[in-house]
Amino acid sequence: MNTNPKKRAQELREQLEHHNYLYYVLDKPEISDADYDDLFDELSRLEAEHPELRTPDSPTQRVGAAPVTKFPTCKHIIPMLSLGKCTTSEEFREFNTRVKGLLAGTGKIEYSIEPKYDGLAVTLIYKNGLLEIGATRGDGFTGEVVTENLKTVRTVPLKLRGHDFPKTIEVRGEVIIYNADFEKFNKQRLDSNLELFANPRNMAAGSLRQLDSRITAGRPLRFIAYGIGVIEGISFDGHHETMKYLKSVGFQVSEFLKSSEATDGVESYYEDILSKRDSLPYDIDGIVIKVDSYRQQAAAGILSRSPRWAIAWKFPAIQRTTIIEDIKVQVGRTGILTPVAYLKPVEVGGVTVSRATLHNEQEVERKDIRVGDTVIIQRAGDVIPAVVKVITEKRSGHEKKFTMPLKCPECGSPVQRVEGEVAVRCSSLYCPAQITEKITHFGSRSAMDIEGLGYRTIELFVEKGFIKDISDLYLLPSKREEILQIDRMGEKSFTNLETALENSKKRELPRIIYALGIPGVGETTAYLLTEQFTSIERLMKASEEEINDIKGIGPILAHSIHTFFRDEYNVAVINKLKKYGVEFPVMISENKHGPLTGKTFVLTGALDSCSRSEAQKEIEKLGGKVTSSVSQKTDYVVAGADPGSKLDKANKLGVTVLDESEFKKLLGLK
Ligand code: IVH
Repeated sequence: MNTNPKKRAQELREQLEHHNYLYYVLDKPEISDADYDDLFDELSRLEAEHPELRTPDSPTQRVGAAPVTKFPTCKHIIPMLSLGKCTTSEEFREFNTRVKGLLAGTGKIEYSIEPKYDGLAVTLIYKNGLLEIGATRGDGFTGEVVTENLKTVRTVPLKLRGHDFPKTIEVRGEVIIYNADFEKFNKQRLDSNLELFANPRNMAAGSLRQLDSRITAGRPLRFIAYGIGVIEGISFDGHHETMKYLKSVGFQVSEFLKSSEATDGVESYYEDILSKRDSLPYDIDGIVIKVDSYRQQAAAGILSRSPRWAIAWKFPAIQRTTIIEDIKVQVGRTGILTPVAYLKPVEVGGVTVSRATLHNEQEVERKDIRVGDTVIIQRAGDVIPAVVKVITEKRSGHEKKFTMPLKCPECGSPVQRVEGEVAVRCSSLYCPAQITEKITHFGSRSAMDIEGLGYRTIELFVEKGFIKDISDLYLLPSKREEILQIDRMGEKSFTNLETALENSKKRELPRIIYALGIPGVGETTAYLLTEQFTSIERLMKASEEEINDIKGIGPILAHSIHTFFRDEYNVAVINKLKKYGVEFPVMISENKHGPLTGKTFVLTGALDSCSRSEAQKEIEKLGGKVTSSVSQKTDYVVAGADPGSKLDKANKLGVTVLDESEFKKLLGLK
């Protein structure tokens, strides 16, 4: 063993990466996990004592770095294309004929065939053997730079194996999660009461896009290489040669890579891999057939977004039969109620499935899905397991029909149906399933515009029990001490949040109505409601007919709005908002071209035919303004019964005084 720290660190790095490679890539470990950990700990200690020995390719760098707020984007110099698809042998033969035509006279055509992994495409750029940039495919032209996250993936070499490195090599491939790792991880989440991932692909996608790479480091991601992008200082003739090279420098490549010149070779490969599909440790959704020679690939060219020299031959979705043991309703973050089938657990392509989404009520009705039914379920690529059909022959007659509950299973509020949507929603301001989403909307720029109230912050407040409904936001300043204990919240950002909350109390009424998040009520509807009712109190008291009478609001929306304000929880939350200082200002609508535009009124004394606020509304409708004290600028004082000192003042200043009937005449009401 070397006693020179620099040399020892180098030795440890090489040993660790070598064992990592044996374990993850070759699946042939030579030392125990405990021995690996000992080496790892020794290197960590050495690096802590001598920070200058910490290199970017050290295995200790796989634990993740400090979180970022956003991923930078990068343009792919060579676009990351997608693949044309086929599903039958006939379609594959058509592809073959096309290729033969395109490449006539270029020599014999050899295909490289490999499985099509069901994960996420990424690209890794190595400069002089060191990983420099890792990015997602994105839309194929621009991706997100997620280098820190990709560095945590054990099968991504931080440094290429060997000694002679090309100046640049861009390695492309798929990030996946093995089914067994997925199951283990989901089981742990189940035990900790956390939301489950629908399938390995979703989990891989979610893990790769974590802003905190320390979270990614805890996810069992893998990388399998299947191609290259930009290269400098090295060249290859074709796909096979490239794969051989990539394997030699430390990448996991497909163990099923094969070549074939003839279509029947490809067909038997398809059958073979399809039969192995269930026993593979990861999900695949087909095979990819590529013309091997790069010279011929270039000759065939590309067709908008996919190459003419390759095709994906997709497998059919995997289906299994099982029994629906129960149907429960789940409330999503936006309040949508989704029926979910609880299944007798069944293996579907290596993953145990115990739940399937039934999407919505109509879907359940259309497929006539009942509790107790024997059904065919399917897991297809990136979709959540779904029920394909009911095997009605298996019915015993004891199956139970499903009906959507009338009350939200999370909070007990009456549910609603919204115009133009199949979904049924819970619109309660109090529903625990939706609170984070509701608060995010409440604080958003076009609503209450509370700066510094990001989704993560809200999640944290909800999780720690500081917020149960939107009104609790305004109580946050009183919990300052407790909140500052949370390590994610700094003093300065909290003070900024306090200021933003204080400022938001003055927002105009249409914004507040929009901020409440009434189903179907966007900014325009919020404005129409304000125009019509001018105050929150009047809106809350409005009948369904009155709301329906507004031009631009239909009967279903009117019903939704009316129901919202009949919910005692919602009323309680609005009252709390008022109590905590949200002003709910009455809207003075400005009619710039009304007969009373520019005229100022003061109302004094009681009117017979209407209340003062109704009179005010009538004046405002015609463009006039109502103020509370009489001055030179006042155009009219309307005097009802028992007028006060305002009448005296009007007389003193020579302002026109109207009695009730004159006033009505002016308004055109008589
Ligand atoms: S080659 C120009 N090989 O399929 C061809 N792609 O539809 C570039 N994929 O986004 C891709 N396994 O994520 C290739 N063995 C494989 C693949 C594979 C999975 C994915 C890849 C790409 C998508 C294209």
